[in-house]
Amino acid sequence: MDRAAFLAELDACREAVEAELRRQLPAADEAPTDLHAALRYCVEAGGKRLRPVLLCKVAGALGATVDPLPAAAAVECLHSYSLVHDDLPAMDNSDLRRGRPACHRAYDEATAILAGDALLTLAFEILATEYPDPPGLAGLLVAELATAAGSRQLVGGQAMDLAVNGQVASAAELAAINERKTGALFAACTAMGAILAGAAPPQRESWRTVGHELGAAFQAIDDVLDATASAEETGKTAGQDATNLKNTLVALEGVEATRRRAHHHTEEARRQLDLLLPDGDFLREMLAYLRERTH
Ligand code: IPE
Ligand code: IPE
Ligand code: MG
Ligand code: MG
Ligand code: MG
Repeated sequence: MDRAAFLAELDACREAVEAELRRQLPAADEAPTDLHAALRYCVEAGGKRLRPVLLCKVAGALGATVDPLPAAAAVECLHSYSLVHDDLPAMDNSDLRRGRPACHRAYDEATAILAGDALLTLAFEILATEYPDPPGLAGLLVAELATAAGSRQLVGGQAMDLAVNGQVASAAELAAINERKTGALFAACTAMGAILAGAAPPQRESWRTVGHELGAAFQAIDDVLDATASAEETGKTAGQDATNLKNTLVALEGVEATRRRAHHHTEEARRQLDLLLPDGDFLREMLAYLRERTH
């Protein structure tokens, strides 16, 4: 698949995810209106939608017969919650997100905390209610996402990310943080795609590995872009990690070494993908696209 065909397919999948998000989110005029307007503000600002696309494409490549879009919307709700809370003054204190004022700036801190709470909860409501058949599917999806989102993984990674600030951290410690705060949700996306297709536990575990490698590469590039890209490109305040004296791979090893790490993780993801899906054209192109991304 060439890049133009990949981009067209990416756009089509993104649009389907966005339509599903519009269907799932409470209307902005439904009470309490400020909160629901804030939810829509955060989600509809338009992120890259890479996690839900990944989930849909794994499900599709494995021949899933159930609709992946509700699960895709659920992971995007959960991801959006993590960004709303990540931007709060008590965390990264970021004013710009997805090219617009961060939720706590557009509304207020209390609304941003509650919007995050609501998006996190909505993610599980969607999974629990949209997958009654076959029996057991909803439980597997909920367990996968909850495991990735909890204090051992995403939330734990966020706690560790804050705790190492101002400390000396090794590359291995930073990798362990990235694995939790970012890798775990990517791993949940690939595994949930496999679960939707009825994959057995060993196969799910292999798909988690693909997601983890992809997530490690993704956070490495995020750190590179924080140091090198403009706010126009990323939709986020440029140089926020340096401003926060954040312990990142870029701060520790520099931009080029961090790019090499991203390359290494992408190659690991590709190696695993080749074993799982010899003709997974879209996913293979997505790996290259993610490593080369400029926003
Ligand atoms: C940002 O994720 C947070 C990280 C884990 C690096 P994205 O770069 O996917 O953010 P959106 O969804 O496109 O806004
Ligand atoms: C955020 O990492 C990870 C999560 C939100 C779980 P970053 O703090 O690097 O994300 P950005 O750069 O603000 O998007
Ligand atoms: Mg952060
Ligand atoms: Mg941040
Ligand atoms: Mg960042």
